[in-house]
Amino acid sequence: MSHFAQVARVPGDPILGLMEAFRADGNPAKLDLGVGVFKDAQGLTPIPQAVKLAEQRLVEQETTKTYIGGHGDPLFTRHLATLVLGRDSQALAEQRAAASQTPGGTGALRLAADFIGHCLPGRGIWLSDPTWPIHETLFAEAGLRVGHYPYVGADNRLNVEAMLAALSYLPQGDVILLHACCHNPTGFDLSQDDWRRVLDVVKARELLPLIDFAYQGFGAGLEQDAWAVRLFASELPELLITSSCSKNFGLYRERTGALIVCSSDAEKLLDVRSQLAAIARNLWSTPPAHGAAVVATILDDAKLKALWSDELDGMRQRVVSLRNGLVEALQPYGLAERFAHIAEQRGMFSYTGLSPSQVQRLRDEYSVYMVGSGRANVAGLDRERLDALAQAIARVCSS
Ligand code: LMR
Repeated sequence: MSHFAQVARVPGDPILGLMEAFRADGNPAKLDLGVGVFKDAQGLTPIPQAVKLAEQRLVEQETTKTYIGGHGDPLFTRHLATLVLGRDSQALAEQRAAASQTPGGTGALRLAADFIGHCLPGRGIWLSDPTWPIHETLFAEAGLRVGHYPYVGADNRLNVEAMLAALSYLPQGDVILLHACCHNPTGFDLSQDDWRRVLDVVKARELLPLIDFAYQGFGAGLEQDAWAVRLFASELPELLITSSCSKNFGLYRERTGALIVCSSDAEKLLDVRSQLAAIARNLWSTPPAHGAAVVATILDDAKLKALWSDELDGMRQRVVSLRNGLVEALQPYGLAERFAHIAEQRGMFSYTGLSPSQVQRLRDEYSVYMVGSGRANVAGLDRERLDALAQAIARVCSS
């Protein structure tokens, strides 16, 4: 008898699979606009200087590798919660908000999903249409009822009116997942006015927001990108926030993130955190230490923090200039207007509006890799090859 006879093969992850397909492509002119990682002018995903310096310090000063506690490194969680909620956060001052360290932002999402499933039974979760594909599977895997609200329509435009109309019919008490900034996959963000209107509906329907904050610093700046999170934290007694250090600290493979909970009072926060520790114990026991130690070292040292913040500014500015550069490169082909949204969207990603068959042709004929939905990682562009890419886009758009 074979124990595994019934085990069927499933397709590989569409985003991570692109990394493998790209590596296997022998074309020297290949271009990877797939997985969301930042690339510099050399096409490399660098380790920030501040991270390198923090790592050196850790090598010299670390004295043990014993487990860290269930909520992680207290220095890391304190600094990260402050980075997200702000130095003048009332929730932090009143000790009714705190972070639990997780393996990356995905770990934070999974912890949130299991918390909702275990402790708030019957609550559904509502995702933007479209959203990051792992949002879809992760919450379903955790057994939650998953629904969608409109976000970007077939015309590749943000449709806030449709979003608000749908939100106003959500079942009272359900959870709504919002992207704090740099919406993945579309790059279309809500304006401050839109956020205020969403907040009104959240209050009216008594929804619980779960704000996914994976790109702090990649939109308009570290503080600016936290605006909506801080608005919600100041206006609502209860809130879940998932924070990732993958992109802004360049720590991708170190799996560094946190679930931040804002609660109505300090006592209730302890109840919630006791549940989170129990859930995490069954998922990963205690979180991995290295990435969080690096972040804690940087955020605890004014000089390292300033260096990191400058490096992050540089990454953001590079992405903005690549967005503008691509639209300019499309100008000679009469496509600048059609693709003007690429310069308006924010963060790493652009919903280009290219169809799945055009994306496939770009891959087959020009070794340009992007997600089938037409999502391009703008941070993977090469300034020297913008013209070649524009020409390839023009060709697949014209026939
Ligand atoms: C992406 O969307 O490409 C990134 O968030 C990486 C991932 O894990 O999918």
